[in-house]
Amino acid sequence: MNKVIINTDITQGVINKNIYGHFAEHLGRCIYEGIWVGEDSSIPNTKGIRNDVLAALKQIKVPVLRWPGGCFADEYHWKDGVGPKEVRKRMVNTHWGGVVENNHFGTHEFMLLCELLECEPYICGNVGSGTVQEMSEWVEYMTFEGESPMANWRRENGQEKPWKLKYFGVGNENWGCGGNMRPEYYSDLYRQYQTYVRNYGGNKIYKIAGGANSDDYNWTEVLMKNAHRMMDGLSIHYYTVPGDWTDKGAAVDFAEDEWFITMKKAYRMDELITKHSTIMDKYDPEKRVGLIIDEWGTWFNVEKGTNPGFLYQQNTLRDALVAGLHFNIFHNHNDRVQMANIAQTVNVLQAMILTEGEKMILTPTYHVFDMYKVHQDAQRLEVASSCGNYEYNGQTLPQVSISASRDEQGKIHISLCNIDPLNKADIEIELRGINDAARVFGSILTSGSMNDHNTFEQQDVVKPCEFNDVNVSNNQLAVQLPPMSVVTLTIES
Ligand code: AHR
Repeated sequence: MNKVIINTDITQGVINKNIYGHFAEHLGRCIYEGIWVGEDSSIPNTKGIRNDVLAALKQIKVPVLRWPGGCFADEYHWKDGVGPKEVRKRMVNTHWGGVVENNHFGTHEFMLLCELLECEPYICGNVGSGTVQEMSEWVEYMTFEGESPMANWRRENGQEKPWKLKYFGVGNENWGCGGNMRPEYYSDLYRQYQTYVRNYGGNKIYKIAGGANSDDYNWTEVLMKNAHRMMDGLSIHYYTVPGDWTDKGAAVDFAEDEWFITMKKAYRMDELITKHSTIMDKYDPEKRVGLIIDEWGTWFNVEKGTNPGFLYQQNTLRDALVAGLHFNIFHNHNDRVQMANIAQTVNVLQAMILTEGEKMILTPTYHVFDMYKVHQDAQRLEVASSCGNYEYNGQTLPQVSISASRDEQGKIHISLCNIDPLNKADIEIELRGINDAARVFGSILTSGSMNDHNTFEQQDVVKPCEFNDVNVSNNQLAVQLPPMSVVTLTIES
């Protein structure tokens, strides 16, 4: 029997809602088609932004949205994307698919999207191919209230008041597509560029330095050593790729070997956060600098017949388990992890939403975001567990992953993932600190097969249902998790 003790009276700090953040790049059909259809589209829209996608994203309470890339950010010149649309520069998106970028979705459209979603914008500036002046002027354009060339231009373009901009990234993957730099060089550039990312008026920018590729601990070491006093956050990027970069594995057509390796690689996020945090602790023991996981998620081979540069992949129950595992890991590192942005919101990589013309479907990953949103800004609770393993071919992984929190109203939320595709998990949960769990209810996401997914023809193959396999006796819960399931329980005492 698996045993879990949750100390409901020992809180361990806030779970920053920004770990439920998103990332939308000018890549494939994420921005164009997925989010932006233009005012003249027959698809119902609000000033060019499709209404169905907006409504779905509002439901999961997107707290922060990263834009315009990704690799695109270090090729993006923001001035091309403001002013009258008919004269905006047309360019080729060389990095992603070689398609024409007409710049119809630019700064104003992005800020409108964030306003409609009621989320914080997180803009990534161009270090790789942009100048200090260009970055500095972008910040001036967006946030300066008074008289200045950039603020005047913003007003001419229809935005009288400056926007509030909190999160700003100084480059993206500068070890790779963002300029192939060495950490010593980038850390000097970071120091230089960030100097001119000014705080105008009451706008205070949280500056995020471009961080390491997965386990490049030296990058974190050098960045922290050379620049930690000049940053508020440092990023890392880590993708869950079951194969290698030449054959990443299929999104839908896989068997248990790939299921197992995917779970193993998803669990690796825990090790990466632990090790990067240990380095950060050396320079920043007070944990002032946040670890920002601004790209994460599954990365599989693209769907057959689609542009390889569009990174379009389906999304199965396996993706849902990967999302649940990540959130539990992020919760359990809430002292250092202050933001995470899944890649990407619509039609790209581990997407929440897929679209085809006017049709839209929600993926299993979307449903996990919906089930877990109760943890946003809640107090993390201490969890001690002794659970069994999921065994495959002589290898093992922890079968059950758990995290818990208490929200402002005092409700306790517990999220559990059973990653074993064949075996259920019986779990006894003791809620210390309360006498009686008066009301317990929950929802579950599971399905008959590990490959199950939603399609435009069958949209609800994988969707959450009410969860009833829980027996309550005073402060003890007996829970039965079916194989490959994600469950969120709510307890009122
Ligand atoms: O999310 C897709 C790409 O992955 C991003 O553009 C880049 O930053 C990363 O390599």
